[in-house]
Amino acid sequence: MKLESTFAHLREQERVKIVFVCLGNICRSPLAEGIANTLYKPHANAPKLEFSSAGTSGFHNGDPIDSRSIAIARENGIDIAHYTSKQVSLYAHSDVDLLVAMDRSNYATLKAMGFESDKIALLGDFGLDGAEVPDPYYGGTDGFAKVFAMLQSGISNLLASLSH
Ligand code: 4NP
Repeated sequence: MKLESTFAHLREQERVKIVFVCLGNICRSPLAEGIANTLYKPHANAPKLEFSSAGTSGFHNGDPIDSRSIAIARENGIDIAHYTSKQVSLYAHSDVDLLVAMDRSNYATLKAMGFESDKIALLGDFGLDGAEVPDPYYGGTDGFAKVFAMLQSGISNLLASLSH
């Protein structure tokens, strides 16, 4: 895995800042942030992890999160109702340790924006066979349930790879 040395390095840090990235920052990545904050349990001998999320587009800058993401989170005991959408930027995210893209298009946009490739990962590379987390925006609520399940699994694998 090409991010192996990045992870070896991150495990030695005191704090690690992680940004989950999708296109609009109203469906997938805010859900990822909420799930990560819920699953993460600090350990004395592991870095302290800090999570946020952003979108490659500014289509929804300042908008509230999609009600379907709020609903699937709430069904699983996670409150993301207070989040608002923001756009990723090289300037605002210059101190970030790891960007986790939801799909290959998000990944390519982050690279094109100038983020170093050893700071960008695809969520699907954490135990999901490289699968993309599909954009659920134009689909039904079942798409959000699928996204939730993928995020839960991938994020728990991501957390495990940062904790030992
Ligand atoms: P997200 O979903 O990238 O998971 O937040 C989308 C939300 C809005 C749009 C696209 C994707 N949009 O084109 O407005």
